[in-house]
Amino acid sequence: MKTYILPQTDVVAPRVVSGQMRIADKSNEAIRALYDAARAGGVNYFDHADIYGNDWHQCERKFADALQLSSLERDEIILQTKCGIIRGEGYYDLSYDHIMKQVDGSLEALGTDYIDFLLLHRPDALVEPEEVARAFDDLHRSGKVRHFGVSNHTPRQIDVLKTAVKQPLAINQLQLSLTNCPIVTQGIASNMARESQSVVIDGGGVLDYCRANQITVQAWSPFQARFFDGTFLGNPQFAPLNKVIARLAKSYGVAEEAIVASWITRHPAKMQVVLGTTTPDRLRAVADGTVELTRKEWYGLFRAADHIVP
Ligand SMILES: NC(=O)c1ccc[n+]([C@@H]2O[C@H](COP(=O)([O-])OP(=O)(O)OC[C@H]3O[C@@H](n4cnc5c(N)ncnc54)[C@H](OP(=O)(O)O)[C@@H]3O)[C@@H](O)[C@H]2O)c1
Repeated sequence: MKTYILPQTDVVAPRVVSGQMRIADKSNEAIRALYDAARAGGVNYFDHADIYGNDWHQCERKFADALQLSSLERDEIILQTKCGIIRGEGYYDLSYDHIMKQVDGSLEALGTDYIDFLLLHRPDALVEPEEVARAFDDLHRSGKVRHFGVSNHTPRQIDVLKTAVKQPLAINQLQLSLTNCPIVTQGIASNMARESQSVVIDGGGVLDYCRANQITVQAWSPFQARFFDGTFLGNPQFAPLNKVIARLAKSYGVAEEAIVASWITRHPAKMQVVLGTTTPDRLRAVADGTVELTRKEWYGLFRAADHIVP
């Protein structure tokens, strides 16, 4: 697995991240097998959130309990978590008090005394940038959090945060798969009045904004057809796309999952792919199989996913 220094940080990171949103009902052995597969494939970056699981911090706690990492091994991995969504109540909270409380909860559940990356999970309409800044200052000064970022934020929302936040916002985690990629499609078909693809639903050039500002985009749900409705791989509704994926997988001698991830890693924004699989073999197939698609292959997949190239 290729590594690189994440822009705006000193962190050496892999292009593939293992997301832990779906481990709530997994046994300790299954979590350990997934972790071992990740580490064997060079994936040492693990994505969490305070809300993952059936209760606050459940997946964070399951991860820590299953792995019982030594402090030496803890230092070998990159732990990322998120806060700001209020479980089951339909609102967001990026206030000072909430951020501080959730970080303490994540530290306790993860059994660690520092978090490598803390992301603001979703933009809070009522956010006060000065409060976020105060929280980030205190968390950074105390050593509880080393780096910061956001998730699902538009360029302007990041600008608003930056009016007060001093630490670099190094990450923006965004929904992105071959079939659900407005952050890519819109830019290819802008100002075409009759095309739905030209409608701005990505907050206005978020991918280019992140690229221009050295913010690493992390692609979440890279295999989902849309929003948690199942993967497009092997789905007859996406037959033309699956045909192209199968052909490329055969010609490169890699798994189909690796071609799907490669469509994201081929983008020059140097995005990371956040895999949600709990199947060790699938994780390894991506970690070991990511290839450098040609420009023609990249656009071929894009068109097969039913996006237009005007
Ligand atoms: N920032 C945000 O707002 C946000 C939102 C959602 C998720 N996330 C993060 O992104 C991560 C990934 O999200 P996701 O789980 O929706 O992503 P995903 O990788 O698109 O989906 C993984 C799911 O697809 C299933 N799947 C079925 N066939 C598959 C195949 N051939 N290859 C790969 N997966 C297959 C997996 O099952 P198996 O487990 O059985 O393999 C798993 O249930 C999460 O773990 C979380 O860390 C962030």
